[in-house]
Amino acid sequence: MAKDKNTRRVMVLHGPNLNMLGSREPEVYGKLTLEKINDHISREAEGMSMEVEVHQSNYEGELVELIHRAGREFDGIILNPGAFTHYSLAIRDAVSSVEIPVVEIHLSNVHAREEFRSKSVIAPVTLGQIAGFGFHSYLVGLRALQLHLDS
Ligand code: DQA
Repeated sequence: MAKDKNTRRVMVLHGPNLNMLGSREPEVYGKLTLEKINDHISREAEGMSMEVEVHQSNYEGELVELIHRAGREFDGIILNPGAFTHYSLAIRDAVSSVEIPVVEIHLSNVHAREEFRSKSVIAPVTLGQIAGFGFHSYLVGLRALQLHLDS
């Protein structure tokens, strides 16, 4: 994609176990693999003149370091922290430490599942949370980020 000064740079971060999408509880998370979801994200981003860099990690420290780097080099973050959502104060503090907006994403409606999933320690320090739309949650998140950055 041609870069110009108006092209937004967005880091998309998928947390633990999301590399298993496609075969992991498809009735909850859908049948698409992470690779296919990433294709949808890239296409959507291209249509909005956004440039995305996508990472998946099963490691808390790696996610923390990616958030720090995004804070220096990117305009925003789309973050699905997976199970870290519910207890990782390290990821929450990483999000607090950067000045760029972060949108928390969940494929499933975390508020309609087990009680522990309705609590996010990260959401309070994000721009907002989008949950329950399957892979469309990422696309809605990108659009929300764009609207926020443009406003
Ligand atoms: C998830 C919801 C989390 O509770 C869970 O641990 C995940 C995926 C989601 O996208 O719906 O790994 O973040």
